Amino acid sequence: MNFKKRTNFLFGVLLLTGSLLAQNVCVSTPKTSLVLSAPEGGTLRHLYYGNRLSEADLQNISAAEANHAAYPEYGLNAPVETALAVKHADGNMTLQLEVLNVTTEKEGNAVTTVVALKDKVYPFFVNVCYRAWQDADVIESWTEISHQEKKPVVLNQFASGYLPIRRGDVWLSHLSGSWANEGVLTQEPLTPGMKVIKNKDGVRNSHTDHAEVMFSLDGRPQENTGNVIGAALCYSGNYKLRIETHDDEYHHFFAGINEENSTYSLKKDELFRTPELALTYSNEGLSGGSRNFHRWARLHKLAHGTTPRKILLNSWEGVYFDINQQGMDQMMADIASMGGELFVMDDGWFGDKYPRKNDSSSLGDWVVDKNKLPNGIEGLLSDAKKHGVKFGIWIEPEMANTTSELYEKHPDWVLKASERDVVLGRGGTQVVLDLANPAVQDFVFGVVDNLMTSYPEIDYIKWDANMSVQNHGSQYLTKDNQSHMYIEFHRGFEKICQRIRAKYPDLTIQACASGGGRANYGVLPYFDEFWVSDNTDALQRVYMQWGTSYFFPAIAMASHISAAPNHQTFRTIPLKYRIDVAMSGRLGMEIQPKNMTEEEKALCKNAIAEYKTIRPVVQLGDIYRLLSPYDKQGVASLMYVASEKDKAVFYWWKTEHFCNQHLPRVKMAGLCADKQYRVHELNRIDNVPLNYEGKSFSGAYLMANGLEIPYNHKVDYHKQNDYSSRVKVNLSGVKVRFMGTVGTVGTASLLSHTRMYINNVRVMK
Ligand code: DGJ
Repeated sequence: MNFKKRTNFLFGVLLLTGSLLAQNVCVSTPKTSLVLSAPEGGTLRHLYYGNRLSEADLQNISAAEANHAAYPEYGLNAPVETALAVKHADGNMTLQLEVLNVTTEKEGNAVTTVVALKDKVYPFFVNVCYRAWQDADVIESWTEISHQEKKPVVLNQFASGYLPIRRGDVWLSHLSGSWANEGVLTQEPLTPGMKVIKNKDGVRNSHTDHAEVMFSLDGRPQENTGNVIGAALCYSGNYKLRIETHDDEYHHFFAGINEENSTYSLKKDELFRTPELALTYSNEGLSGGSRNFHRWARLHKLAHGTTPRKILLNSWEGVYFDINQQGMDQMMADIASMGGELFVMDDGWFGDKYPRKNDSSSLGDWVVDKNKLPNGIEGLLSDAKKHGVKFGIWIEPEMANTTSELYEKHPDWVLKASERDVVLGRGGTQVVLDLANPAVQDFVFGVVDNLMTSYPEIDYIKWDANMSVQNHGSQYLTKDNQSHMYIEFHRGFEKICQRIRAKYPDLTIQACASGGGRANYGVLPYFDEFWVSDNTDALQRVYMQWGTSYFFPAIAMASHISAAPNHQTFRTIPLKYRIDVAMSGRLGMEIQPKNMTEEEKALCKNAIAEYKTIRPVVQLGDIYRLLSPYDKQGVASLMYVASEKDKAVFYWWKTEHFCNQHLPRVKMAGLCADKQYRVHELNRIDNVPLNYEGKSFSGAYLMANGLEIPYNHKVDYHKQNDYSSRVKVNLSGVKVRFMGTVGTVGTASLLSHTRMYINNVRVMK
């Protein structure tokens, strides 16, 4: 065996257990271990993934665990699912991989272990790689595939990773959805047969299903107890997750690029690198798995993951395409007056020959529409400066409309099948640019580069993408390589992102794709956040943000206060409730402030000021989901706890309203049992404070009992009438009344109390 470097024995260990044939490899994070058997000349086998093992247990782990090929290949074990399937240059369809060597290397806070495999007969090689983070309980695994056969080898299947999961009462949690209804949580037991979760959109890979899942290993999923495996494929393109439950004692989980219509012809000496599959293990339930993902995301996977985000106003729902200088100036003045820090001008600002009046033209022509904005971006930047806010701008640089100067000049730059008419998307004229083409990559990079070199004060870019790949055809790739189109599109996209980040490391960039179409860990290294959904309805957001929080931290989840009635659901929800839901993510506004009353503006101003006090806890703290809206108990609740456990923020949203209803009392979690926490209500609208306002309770009490939360707000009679009338209107239909509470913390000594926040929300309809 060739051990390139033997590093830290505790983390990322290579373990010799007796003879070379019994060689085990242990890949460890602070609380987890993944153990492989890697005998030279033998098969790489998976032995264990779970809580971190002691050295004593590691010695005998081979005897205790069943073993499975760690990266199952097709050909000589044909009846079972596999991770890798190829056709060799001579037509042979089989693989038989054996271990060549194992190397391990420390890079920063990670230890990378590479197990090199080679086919017994063919010069065909696979590196199975594991990156174990030493400051987050996540192991990323991927493979590097290459060969030295005389002609190309066809890759028919090329998963990033495989994991056997012991059968029992294993439940799967996963997200699905559609436009304006993203991140819907489904929890189901794994049963015999094949469960497949996949995406074929080409661009927006989280609009429907998500490439992240959790497995609850001990029966029905629990938020704060039980053993959980989490898996997230870090890829921006089409993916496929497979869970096969066959006739043995294991569920077999595979994840990788969706190979449908994407067979890959691999040239001699070319390296095909599969995207990372990030794995986590927690014995603190689903919320524990989420905390692991969130920490890893903030530290390693999300652009600027530890920098608190600005509070912004986005123009979209306020003015849609109706952009003009005066309107933008007014919105900037309004967000500044409410304490916001950033204004983002959305769609509608560009186009010369074809001004962008609606969604049917101009994408590709990234020049200012001088009729709408006579003073150009310079004028907007100087307005922003005048008001003391930063300025951000919307682009959709991977796309064009056929009604655009770009398309007139470069019709060969769009995805289109040869011999066929181009299939059109949004607005009846939208097309997707062919990012496989380096000239197109230069153009897309140039969209950002031109803006940033011309206007370096731009602080934020909202990068949108509103069309799926509807034409299978790259006008750049050769006829023989058309099946590479999806993969090359995403390689091109990543290259562009890398160039942008190399030149503009400090720029804030939001990933938006018709709403929540780009919530994935393939894009997040280049993006600071994503737009959760075009649906800003606060009630539906409770559900969408709940599901999305399984895998993504609040700092990445853009969550905006919008108008009532809501523009997507037409539901009328009181501002208080809209604020309290938006405040559980990266707070922003998406509304026309000039249509708000002074009282509403004051409420928002107060909320923004209060949010600033809890921003570090929400955006950098640990999530504890307490009561799921999906449990239909009339209330949903979650909290964030600062890592020092000296502060926490507790949210409580009523999701149903009935007279004299009975709601569960929610117990808190994640606090320090012997610290005292003083309660303070945020965003209070009640005339009288809660009975326990300013009072202190131990973490032990709060976690064992929670606090009694009044079901209604005590507000003036005329306000109650307003609310009540809407409740009464809905007595025979949907009735919604919400309240939210936020708790925060103090330290052990009563003298050193900090605050506990209570955020009291109500919506009636
Ligand atoms: C879709 C996005 O999700 C919206 O927020 C908005 O930016 C529009 N596109 C603009 O066309």
